[in-house]
Amino acid sequence: MEKILIPGIRARLAGLVLALAAMAGLVLALPAPALAEYGDVVINNHSDAAGVRPVVFPHWFHRVRFRCKVCHSDLGFKFQAGGNDINMVKIIDGQFCGACHNGAVAWSVENCDLCHSGKANTPTQVHESTIQKLAGPAPAAPATAAKR
Ligand code: HEC
Ligand code: HEC
Ligand code: HEC
Repeated sequence: MEKILIPGIRARLAGLVLALAAMAGLVLALPAPALAEYGDVVINNHSDAAGVRPVVFPHWFHRVRFRCKVCHSDLGFKFQAGGNDINMVKIIDGQFCGACHNGAVAWSVENCDLCHSGKANTPTQVHESTIQKLAGPAPAAPATAAKR
């Protein structure tokens, strides 16, 4: 079997195997602590009262693009679902979500429905995501790694 593989094909196969191994390694290397980061955060301090749908913030989607520090240190997001008293004036002023959702780093604030996508009356919470299911149940105190 091996003899009939010409060297070029063998090299390509070896490359493929390496690439697959690297991908598997990446998946396995995903951080185990701080499982809260895998959930979507529903933010509904003001939305229901203002007649808009609650906001769903996909934490994992953002976390794979940015380090924790970008949001939780540089942009000042507190580690607490609903803990930041965000509103549209602040967002348009470039704070919180508005630091990126300004049409430059990410799509702009006109896309109301992309953020206000929750079901009415969903309370503020960290909502379980698929990845969280794959990673197993969240520990009772997920804030440990978050304090770094
Ligand atoms: C990048 C995400 C994002 C986009 C885009 C966005 N919002 Fe919001 N909005 C939020 C967040 C986060 C809150 C705070 C939610 C809460 O606590 O209930 C909020 C709160 C609000 C509130 C209640 C507080 C306030 O400021 O009056 C209203 C009304 C609102 N948004 C309307 C809109 C409308 C209309 C648009 C489109 C023109 C829009 N939003 C686009 C994230 C967004
Ligand atoms: C793109 C911005 C962003 C990044 C990057 C980010 N977070 Fe968050 N995080 C948020 C927002 C927004 C909330 C919800 C805050 C709110 O509701 O006001 C949140 C909430 C949390 C919470 C509180 C959840 C709860 O149970 O109430 C923890 C813990 C947390 N983040 C940890 C992390 C860790 C650890 C990382 C890096 C692995 C990270 N975050 C990366 C934006 C971010
Ligand atoms: C540090 C920058 C940053 C901050 C802060 C940030 N976002 Fe984002 N967000 C992004 C980027 C980048 C994308 C991807 C944009 C794209 O695909 O064009 C994104 C995409 C999204 C998406 C779409 C996810 C998907 O599945 O396509 C939603 C919803 C969203 N953000 C909501 C929010 C809300 C709500 C906040 C504030 C609570 C927020 N974001 C704060 C950078 C940020």
